[in-house]
Amino acid sequence: MLLGVDGVSPKRQRSIRNAWMIMKRAFITGITGQDGSYLAELLLAKGYEVHGMIRRSSSFNTQRIDHLYQDPHILGTRLFLHYGDLSDAGRLAKMMYEITPDEVYHLGAQSHVRVSFDVPEYTGDVVALGTIRLLEALRETGIGKKARFYQASSSELYGKVRETPQRETTPFHPRSPYGVAKLYGYWATINYREAYGMHASNGILFNHESPRRGPTFVTRKITMAAARIKSGLQNALYLGNLEAKRDWGYAGDYVEGMWRIVQRDEPDDYVLATGETHSVGEFCEEAFGLLGLDWREFVKHDPRYERPSEVDLLLGDATKARRVLGWQPKVTFKELVRLMVEADMRVARQELAVQQAGGVLENAE
Ligand code: NAP
Ligand code: GDD
Repeated sequence: MLLGVDGVSPKRQRSIRNAWMIMKRAFITGITGQDGSYLAELLLAKGYEVHGMIRRSSSFNTQRIDHLYQDPHILGTRLFLHYGDLSDAGRLAKMMYEITPDEVYHLGAQSHVRVSFDVPEYTGDVVALGTIRLLEALRETGIGKKARFYQASSSELYGKVRETPQRETTPFHPRSPYGVAKLYGYWATINYREAYGMHASNGILFNHESPRRGPTFVTRKITMAAARIKSGLQNALYLGNLEAKRDWGYAGDYVEGMWRIVQRDEPDDYVLATGETHSVGEFCEEAFGLLGLDWREFVKHDPRYERPSEVDLLLGDATKARRVLGWQPKVTFKELVRLMVEADMRVARQELAVQQAGGVLENAE
């Protein structure tokens, strides 16, 4: 767990910053999430000072960034965390005013599509209105005159797809409260660009995964289950729709794309995708196959994991990003599955060792 969150006064933080010729200052919402953690790593490696907003939680929610922790009292510290929430407009404005970021990466969201059908109002509040609150905080404080803004838009916007592959010009047809809320965030970003001249860009990102992916998203659910079944810790895996197809890439490649979008002189909107699509069943086959298992023996159906309206097929065309940003993903589908399975095998072995020693593993991540 990180200590010293907000433990240093803004004045002290500024003097620390000034003592070091820091290149740029970034603010990240959703820094504790999968993408936030990879982006924080990338920006720190590039010499940025990184400020992240975290939610107060009764249990630890900083596991993905614990390895980046730096004592805020030490001169040269470049990672600072601030309590806040996307539902709290006043706090967002105060943070913008105090931090005065050069770049704002808005990644915070209730990001689970299936869950958004259970909590549609909350999802709309955080995902749609949360985006406008942050944009307003930038505008009202005047920080948005100089700061650049990145919006985490999603291939879920395409939903019931109108053309394949999907590109920047493909019409949207979202299929979930999450997708609808992201549509609002997408257009809010463009509106603030057009109305106020803000440097605000959308990254329309297709699915991207990693060993840090939340365990209820399908890829991680599969790789965790395959590893636990192989280790004798679990007998079966319950899934919903096996036919859905996704364009799955590696999260580490995608945060590099986010950064490149923000570095362009002109704000714009870009699709980031691999250009390859696979079904959920194919992902199972690859993951279980790596462990010498036949997935059909273990995967069972549970309709609870199906969605009232599904997105059947996503396949992105990232030609614009390749041409303008020079971006292209490095990790292939097979490499992605392998690196997730290997990571989850390490976790399963630890769990097994703890179990055999008679203990309880409190946190597998
Ligand atoms: P994630 O792992 O679910 O992380 C979401 C982050 O948002 C977490 O840090 C979470 O904090 C934070 N958050 C949730 N509700 C919040 C609130 N009310 N106030 C402040 N922060 C809040 O998501 P991800 O996969 O990294 O995705 C990052 C962003 O990209 C999201 O906006 C997602 O919708 C979008 N996106 C993702 C993909 C993908 O395939 N991964 C593709 C396209 C777009 P806690 O840790 O406290 O929960
Ligand atoms: N989560 C989950 N759990 N999905 C399942 C399951 C299951 O047990 N069984 C089948 N699926 C299917 C879903 O119906 C969906 O078609 C597909 O697997 C992928 O589901 P998720 O991994 O939950 O991701 P997603 O595509 O719905 O949403 C993710 O990608 C979006 C970008 O396209 C999230 O990261 C979103 O935040 C992101 O915007």
